[in-house]
Amino acid sequence: MAEQSSPGELKGLVLAGGKGTRLRPFTYTGAKQLVPIANKPILFHAIEQLAASGITDLGIVVGDTKKQIVEAVGDGSRFGVSVTYIDQSAPLGIAHAVRIAEPFLGDSPFILFLGDNFLKEGIASYVEQFRSGEYNSLVLLSPVDDPRSFGIAELDGERLVRVIEKPAQPPSNMAVIGIYFFDANVFDAIRQIEPSPRGELEITDTIQKLIDSGCSVRADVIKDRWIDTGKHDDLLEANHLFLEDLTPALMGRHDEASQIQGRVVLEEGAEVVNSRIQGPAIIGERTRIVNSYVGPFTSIYHDCLVADTEISGSVVLENTRIEQVGHRIEHSLIGKNVELKGHERRPHGYALILGDFSKLHLP
Ligand code: G1P
Repeated sequence: MAEQSSPGELKGLVLAGGKGTRLRPFTYTGAKQLVPIANKPILFHAIEQLAASGITDLGIVVGDTKKQIVEAVGDGSRFGVSVTYIDQSAPLGIAHAVRIAEPFLGDSPFILFLGDNFLKEGIASYVEQFRSGEYNSLVLLSPVDDPRSFGIAELDGERLVRVIEKPAQPPSNMAVIGIYFFDANVFDAIRQIEPSPRGELEITDTIQKLIDSGCSVRADVIKDRWIDTGKHDDLLEANHLFLEDLTPALMGRHDEASQIQGRVVLEEGAEVVNSRIQGPAIIGERTRIVNSYVGPFTSIYHDCLVADTEISGSVVLENTRIEQVGHRIEHSLIGKNVELKGHERRPHGYALILGDFSKLHLP
């Protein structure tokens, strides 16, 4: 194997560029990495997990949505980390992002974390393993149902033989997840690869180069649940997973006519009036729930109003108003600044203003 480059402190490289086209329409007006899971942006979960593993020197690669990311994360001090922003002028691939981060990373080994990936149990054990191991790279694998949509590993026993980006004929169902460990040998590998048919410098081609040039690349199948929150259902699933372990906390208020049952978080300034909240559920800052039922596995973000409505198993983003909806809202993802309003009188017609790519499943 090639010698592991300077064993110095592990740095973190988080990718927060990309357009999030698969998450439209939520990502027309915002960065996909800032969409919340259990009322916390996905990116914050990543940063907190890195900080919890003692990785405090972070580079964040940003693109078109830089302004929002910088506004949200700042210099990182509130997470106990120091953040260096690295501009990626165009989405030219994960390996391209690593290449432009070389001045920041220098000789340090590092963890590469795609900012929309989510591991419920965190990354501490893998960080430990890479720190103590003698590999040039550690990749993590998880079985998937649709191997044509991911980087896929071909294994010979435990040995990683090949990685292929979105193969038409997948050799296995083991996806390479978006959390990788490298040492500085990765830069030589990137210099040797060419853009793929989709015009990107692929991280999978980079890993293949590392294998071919005799570097030791270890692949471990993770036991934890991994979610690439790139799609709507994945986001709802990540929200569900996270809420399973919600620690209840009532910072907001509820009146005596209301029932708060199970594990519920009422964030600062949240107000529940004549309603029932059945946890696990989280109600965001300054959000008002009036004459309503909020069922299990629901996250309602900041500055929303839910009035005379039943909602369950759903995620609602900020500043949205939902009033008098006659049917229970279930398994739904509702964006920012949405107005969803029913009325009591008949006829129950629909008056809709739905943006491009909206999805409305009517009963
Ligand atoms: C990227 C990688 C792919 C990996 C996936 C994990 O895919 O190219 O190898 O399996 O992340 O989330 P992309 O999100 O660019 O389609």
